[in-house]
Amino acid sequence: MNRIIRNILSVAVLALAGCSSAPQTETDRKVEELLSQMTLHEKIGQMNQLSGGAWLADQAAKGEVGSILNCVDPAEINAVQRAAVEESRLGIPILVARDVIHGFRTIFPIPLGLASTFDPEIVEEGARVAAVEATASGIRWTFSPMLDVARDPRWGRVAEGSGEDPYLDVQMGLAMVRGYQGEDLSNPASMAACIKHFVGYGAAEGGRDYNSTMISERSLRNTYFPAFKATADAGAATLMTSFNEIDGIPSTGNKWLLKDILRDEWGWDGMVVTDWNSAGEMIAHGFSNDLKHTAEQSVNAGVDMDMMSYGFIQYLEELVKEGKVSEAEIDRAVRNILKLKFDLGLFENPYVDETASAKVDYAPAHLEAAKQSAVESAILLKNEGGVLPLDKAKTILVTGPLADAPYEQMGTWAFDGQQEHTVTPLTALRQEYDVIWEPGLAYSRDRSTKEFAKVRNAASRAEAAVVFVGEEAILSGEAHSLSNLNLQGAQSELIAEVAKAGKPVVVVVIAGRPLTVERDLDNCDAMLYSFHPGTMGGPALADLIKGKANPSGKLPMTFLRDAGQAPFYYNHNNLGRPNNGTETLLYDIPIAAGQTSLGCTSYYLDTGYGPLFPFGYGLSYTSFKYGNPVLDKGEYTEDDVIRVSFELKNTGMREGTEVVQLYVQDKVGSVVRPVKELKGFQRVTLAPGETRTVTFELPVSDLAFWNIDMEYVVEKGDFNLWVAGDSASGEPVSFEVI
Ligand code: BGC
Repeated sequence: MNRIIRNILSVAVLALAGCSSAPQTETDRKVEELLSQMTLHEKIGQMNQLSGGAWLADQAAKGEVGSILNCVDPAEINAVQRAAVEESRLGIPILVARDVIHGFRTIFPIPLGLASTFDPEIVEEGARVAAVEATASGIRWTFSPMLDVARDPRWGRVAEGSGEDPYLDVQMGLAMVRGYQGEDLSNPASMAACIKHFVGYGAAEGGRDYNSTMISERSLRNTYFPAFKATADAGAATLMTSFNEIDGIPSTGNKWLLKDILRDEWGWDGMVVTDWNSAGEMIAHGFSNDLKHTAEQSVNAGVDMDMMSYGFIQYLEELVKEGKVSEAEIDRAVRNILKLKFDLGLFENPYVDETASAKVDYAPAHLEAAKQSAVESAILLKNEGGVLPLDKAKTILVTGPLADAPYEQMGTWAFDGQQEHTVTPLTALRQEYDVIWEPGLAYSRDRSTKEFAKVRNAASRAEAAVVFVGEEAILSGEAHSLSNLNLQGAQSELIAEVAKAGKPVVVVVIAGRPLTVERDLDNCDAMLYSFHPGTMGGPALADLIKGKANPSGKLPMTFLRDAGQAPFYYNHNNLGRPNNGTETLLYDIPIAAGQTSLGCTSYYLDTGYGPLFPFGYGLSYTSFKYGNPVLDKGEYTEDDVIRVSFELKNTGMREGTEVVQLYVQDKVGSVVRPVKELKGFQRVTLAPGETRTVTFELPVSDLAFWNIDMEYVVEKGDFNLWVAGDSASGEPVSFEVI
């Protein structure tokens, strides 16, 4: 059966289920029973989410708050819960939420770093650790994963997601949802996930946070929806609307998104929450007259719970009385909220054991998982002359503002990680080497070069220098857009200064986004890039530097030569005048050149066509040779599975792990198609000299896209396929879908 027909049928089945008054499950029955006892005021109370702790107990006792966020003290959480359960008329428990984005106490690499691992298993494990620690403090709902496809590193929130590629986004999103929610939401160690921000928030114009987005319906469906659809299908319990508007409609008031797509087309039955005051912000957007209007528009569009606009609690009763919002809409929202509370087992287990967190926070296994994630997330960008690993040196210089910055290495959204538990690279390297420590700069924006003479002098006494530069945590994340992506302060000058000593220079970048490091590459022998690596970043990086571990991370975003190239992503559409490798660059243009076009292809006169490093790029201390891919057939039908095999050989002297990537290009489509798209990846570990046959199985149905008629179909025709170590390598083989 084709997918469209399947969708139509499932919508029909759901519609029938909705018409029937008989409850479907035991939980539905409980929800209906409770709902039937609730006053309108109590129902609206459930739809209200407030930020705070014990001081919200009075409102909880009156049944005027359904959920709280930002309280992490188990005693306070229990106090609010007691008010709700023991003092409110119906005793409905509170749902406690928090932004547990990349760990709770034990901080894992930021999500962009987790994406660099291309390892869904370790990402799932990290999310499980986060759930175990957060639930031990009484938190049962996290606002994660962030699934916003992001193609502009100027946008500070690239740190919080999986980067530019829809397929990687799907895989990472699924892993996180599995990790947070576990097998069963009612397990007290499970947390409801919240897929956010629906939708298109990552496409903010110019990378300026909260900005407008221009996304066509086809592009929403092909690029921005897939991770939401996949995680919704996999049972993600909640979804958050986004701040941005699309085509003039803010997401929080967008009925097409929240009802037509999410409910009717996808048949998803979870709970929808607004982003922080995103309902209220519809006034600033000029989409709503006042707060009352925002409540009317968002509930009618399909929102279930209001985060911090206060509009629902103030105006919904009036709106129902005036007939502007039906009680049926209110019941719909409250059903979704109550169902989640039943699913989480909150009615049976409302309280948290106030001694539990001390037993699980920073457990050795959690630290080990965090370390392994940080090891796998680091990307080796350059290693001239095999300078890394520094396995023979005894005395090294450690310098730079990120070498001993325990708070900064945790990155953005690490509210609950405690810096006393963070191990810095300096601390870890001291276990391995005689370290000469000269910070050089106090923090990443420091512009003072007054300590540089000391650093250069120290470099001349060491066998090699390791320079830790990058971004403080505050420079990325929400509301932290940048227009200049070079290293801030005098960090590039510090690297250049160290290089003058003539010793091998290793640069380690610890940052929240892809920075433009081209000029710094020229001043070092090796560069290791680590998106803020979290609590165990120090030991992970020390293992990589020493050679106890081998880098295997790959770039989840294209690295730019200059911020002016943004947005830049590998899977752009085919162009009418693609670059053909012949670029006339700025200084090659003759003086008083005639007014002719130059080369007539798509590129910049100053930075040329290509990026600094392509999506998927990353080196290893060993080397890998890819054999030619062999397809099991030349022609496939829509129901087939494509099997492609190739030999991967470790041609170096060390064991190493290569992330092998599968890309496909649909050569001709009813609408213009991307130049190539990631369709699979595997981490393959090989001993020195070992050869292994690697096989990908790709269902032809995975080649479907939203075509000219806005139908999700596989179109017949010719395709190219690559297996490679990054998005710019490899030779294609072709096949046909008949
Ligand atoms: C962010 C969300 C976050 C929420 C709650 C908002 O500012 O956009 O991602 O979950 O705050 O803290």
